[in-house]
Amino acid sequence: MANTTILTIVLLAVIQTAMCNNCSSICYPSEFFPNIQGNLTKITWAHGVNSLTELDKALASADIMMLEGDVIMGKHIATNATTDKIPIMAHPPATESDLSLEEFLNINMNNGSKGIKLDFKSNEAFNNSKPILRKFQPSLKCPVILNADILRGPVNATNPLINTTDFLTEASKIPNSILSIGWTTKYGKEYNITEGRYNMKHLKKMVEVVTENHIKLPVTYPVRAGLATNDIDGMKALLKNTTSITGNATLTIWSLKDDYVDVAKLSKLIKELGTDKVYLDVPEDLRNQLNLSSASTMTSAVMMNLIASLVFLVLSRML
Ligand SMILES: *[C@@H]1O[C@H](CO)[C@@H](O)[C@H](O)[C@H]1NC(C)=O
Ligand SMILES: *[C@@H]1O[C@H](CO)[C@@H](O)[C@H](O)[C@H]1NC(C)=O
Ligand SMILES: *[C@@H]1O[C@H](CO)[C@@H](O)[C@H](O)[C@H]1NC(C)=O
Ligand SMILES: *[C@@H]1O[C@H](CO)[C@@H](O)[C@H](O)[C@H]1NC(C)=O
Ligand SMILES: *[C@@H]1O[C@H](CO)[C@@H](O)[C@H](O)[C@H]1NC(C)=O
Ligand SMILES: *[C@@H]1O[C@H](CO)[C@@H](O)[C@H](O)[C@H]1NC(C)=O
Ligand SMILES: *[C@@H]1O[C@H](CO)[C@@H](O)[C@H](O)[C@H]1NC(C)=O
Ligand SMILES: *[C@@H]1O[C@H](CO)[C@@H](O)[C@H](O)[C@H]1NC(C)=O
Ligand SMILES: *[C@@H]1O[C@H](CO)[C@@H](O)[C@H](O)[C@H]1NC(C)=O
Ligand SMILES: *[C@@H]1O[C@H](CO)[C@@H](O)[C@H](O)[C@H]1NC(C)=O
Repeated sequence: MANTTILTIVLLAVIQTAMCNNCSSICYPSEFFPNIQGNLTKITWAHGVNSLTELDKALASADIMMLEGDVIMGKHIATNATTDKIPIMAHPPATESDLSLEEFLNINMNNGSKGIKLDFKSNEAFNNSKPILRKFQPSLKCPVILNADILRGPVNATNPLINTTDFLTEASKIPNSILSIGWTTKYGKEYNITEGRYNMKHLKKMVEVVTENHIKLPVTYPVRAGLATNDIDGMKALLKNTTSITGNATLTIWSLKDDYVDVAKLSKLIKELGTDKVYLDVPEDLRNQLNLSSASTMTSAVMMNLIASLVFLVLSRML
């Protein structure tokens, strides 16, 4: 029994190494932040790092591990360029910023203590960011997550602003990154919507586009907490099917301040998927309500093998 387990693990490792190109050079948050001991829910996030002040604040904060910023085409107010729009760090409806993408990457590269997540808000912003990302990626030694909403999601949300195929094919050419690809959502206080889920169609479509575009980079799926809790089996299948394509898949569970979230169901979702598979990017008060204490990073297969070995041990002693 134990031999089968070892054989399975070795086989899986061989398969994953073969599938995941350039994986050795990818900086995984779990490796960059060894103190979390593989428990991805322990990773902490700063949002809207879209100005020099916010960047400095986040870099100076010992509690923050990952910096999330938004990329749009806009005016860089520190220079005199009046005409040309460049990739800047800003969240719509803002159109200008004192921090360009290039400066954001440069400052982070020189600092070197935090991971980065970039949320691309338009095709044009992503297209014009590509050369900048390619220039910086080899020197960035920290985790880099490239995020975009690429598919239409619940509940009857609008079409994504990002071209699915373009983003997938182009983002996977930027080496050493982790792709964060999600669905648009319409949920929460703004729309007075408290019910909804990612249905089979949403999930299957995602696996389909990842397959069609031959994605070999690690993938994380950003899912909105209040919606993801309603289909635990679907989330499991999503990760399982993606892992067979890319070799590595996780969820990034996010939530807005006033979203309705069933706390018990969210705790259950995280425990069932495993804290080694779930980044948790939710408001502090929601995080504090979760009960993850009995969360196990063991897969059910390993568990079954362990139980079987114990039974075997007990039986052999009885004889
Ligand atoms: C999968 O991702 C985890 C981090 O989430 C990393 O530690 C592990 O090495 C990755 N596996 C492969 C085969 O790259
Ligand atoms: C690995 O990355 C390098 C650049 O870092 C790239 O030139 C090469 O094509 C990549 N190999 C594969 C198999 O993706
Ligand atoms: C902006 O323009 C003014 C006057 O034309 C010039 O003195 C200043 O150095 C310029 N600043 C930058 C950052 O280029
Ligand atoms: C990173 O930036 C923060 C804030 O500016 C600073 O306190 C810290 O010393 C910097 N670390 C490094 C290694 O540059
Ligand atoms: C895409 O970006 C390149 C620069 O990398 C630029 O020359 C080109 O005009 C951009 N195309 C669009 C449609 O934005
Ligand atoms: C979503 O669209 C379907 C079909 O168009 C409609 O029946 C349903 O009421 C809509 N739901 C919401 C919450 O808008
Ligand atoms: C996405 O871009 C491709 C070409 O880059 C184009 O053929 C396709 O029509 C675009 N899709 C949408 C929905 O605009
Ligand atoms: C929100 O929806 C509920 C029923 O789903 C309704 O009773 C309530 O009046 C709505 N509130 C607003 C502000 O639209
Ligand atoms: C995952 O793959 C299984 C087996 O091919 C399939 O039945 C299931 O519908 C897939 N689920 C998703 C979300 O892709
Ligand atoms: C993972 O971290 C959470 C806090 O984010 C903690 O509650 C939980 O007990 C940890 N689980 C494991 C298996 O380490």
